[in-house]
Amino acid sequence: MTPSLVGEPMSEGEGKPPVVVVSDSTNITSGTEVQEKLISASRVFSDLLKPTYGPRGLDKMLYKTDGSTAVTNDGAKIVAELMVKHPAAKMMVAMGNTQEEACGDGVTTAMMLCGALLEEANNLLSKGLHPLTLVDGYRTSMEIASQLMDADAVDVDDVRLIGVAETALTGKGAEAAIDVFAPMVRDALTAVEANVEQAGAEHIAMYKIGRGGLRDSHLIRGIAIRRRVQMDNFPNNLKNAKTAVLGGDIKIRKMTRDAEIQITSAEQLDGFVEAESARKQELAQSLIDSGAKLILAGGEIDRDILHDLADAGILTVSDLDESELDNAAAATGATVIDSIIDIEASDLGVAGNVHWERRQSTDQVEDVITIDDCKTPATVTLAIGGAGEAATEEVIRGLHDALRATSIALEEGQLLAGGGATHARIANAVRKASESEPGRARLAMEAFARAMETVPATLADNSGKDPLDAVLEMRAVAREESPTPQGVRVDGEVGELSGVWHPRAIIEEGLESSVETAMSMLRIDQVISARGD
Ligand SMILES: Nc1ncnc2c1ncn2[C@@H]1O[C@H](COP(=O)(O)OP(=O)(O)OP(=O)(O)O)[C@@H](O)[C@H]1O
Ligand SMILES: [Mg+2]
Repeated sequence: MTPSLVGEPMSEGEGKPPVVVVSDSTNITSGTEVQEKLISASRVFSDLLKPTYGPRGLDKMLYKTDGSTAVTNDGAKIVAELMVKHPAAKMMVAMGNTQEEACGDGVTTAMMLCGALLEEANNLLSKGLHPLTLVDGYRTSMEIASQLMDADAVDVDDVRLIGVAETALTGKGAEAAIDVFAPMVRDALTAVEANVEQAGAEHIAMYKIGRGGLRDSHLIRGIAIRRRVQMDNFPNNLKNAKTAVLGGDIKIRKMTRDAEIQITSAEQLDGFVEAESARKQELAQSLIDSGAKLILAGGEIDRDILHDLADAGILTVSDLDESELDNAAAATGATVIDSIIDIEASDLGVAGNVHWERRQSTDQVEDVITIDDCKTPATVTLAIGGAGEAATEEVIRGLHDALRATSIALEEGQLLAGGGATHARIANAVRKASESEPGRARLAMEAFARAMETVPATLADNSGKDPLDAVLEMRAVAREESPTPQGVRVDGEVGELSGVWHPRAIIEEGLESSVETAMSMLRIDQVISARGD
């Protein structure tokens, strides 16, 4: 008899104490039951996401324990908000997070493919195929998939780049103004491209206009901030204003020690007050002498200095937070400085167009200061129109996906067709290769090919068309070497796609991680649960 972890306590012979390795409440699942358990949990998860998939995907409303809600179509957002308990689902969540971090788009595709690969695996396992044979077959299929993607990838150009942005925005809240947003995403990235090492979503700030409609959205070649403009006589509509960005306060430093100053005469008091105002003047003068016409500060500003600056015609905005300071510095080319006295001309940046507007509509009186038309911005801003907070959040999530996808396309320069075209071509290539596979791994390759077809099937299903018909039609067109990719269009029909492009990396990495996750689940032979479930 071999020792086991749980069950009857075992003794190594007469009179010896039994060996107890784990507590009584531990439950151990072994054999095919393990995979069944893991696979059904993953299926529940991928089935949950399926209805949100593609241009005709619906949204989920997420209602959290703290009472807040979000309406979203974004796979990453749904995954992030779900309080997942099951270990198999947790593995999928980890995969979704990896895809979101690496690519920012394609999360739903990766989840669905992983679910499909596992479902296909389950059928073969129940017929007695060894899990490792499946793993081998899946690995071979992935190699064939990579070769197919090498062959099918096309180079990016200006028109296709807009296609990448549009494809990422399709089916999301931002789609309503896709003709405004897609060029905006491209323009934002190309505006910063020459001024940063690698243009990416981190160089694009988002600003909620808080009124109007989606079509009022526009690109600001600089930044927008909401703050109080403290003086009415501050200048407005500045052109090519030299800009100083200060990290701290604009005031004289407080004594650090608790000093008590005894003033015994009126002259002494005058002297003390004069010394203080001389130091303030020195600070103000230093800022005026720097030539700055716009000052942005992270801290507070002394009233007297504020007046001096206003008199000198310098627009000064204080109390900015760190990210606003960084964005302002990046947009104008300024350096964030801490010591006002040491300010130098080379620390200043240039703001192309500065405009501020009084706003009294909200309960806090906050004005809007816009810095636009910067010449060499390393940060630009997408200003999003619309009044609804939850809707704007969803638009921003869509734009974020589009920014990530478009920047990856710019960076790596290769694209693959969406709409299920690439996945159907992979299925075709793997199926063809499986015919010359003599061993049982052939079954696994066929399963892999069927799993790839979930993409066109779900796209057709969500558009109200028959998924089976779509799969069969896709099998026929995937065999052809046509110059224009063919896939499932928005209306669910199979045909030529126009402008449905993804960066190669998003499709490839999504597929790789879903195959990896499926394979790692298949390698598990026992589930040992301390909670007894
Ligand atoms: N105009 C279009 N015609 C056909 N298919 C499209 C079109 N636009 C997008 N698609 C397809 O829709 C799918 C993307 O859907 P969706 O954006 O919901 O999922 P995802 O990108 O995998 O995940 P997420 O965006 O939630 O991270 C891709 O297969 C894509 O090619
Ligand atoms: Mg997407």
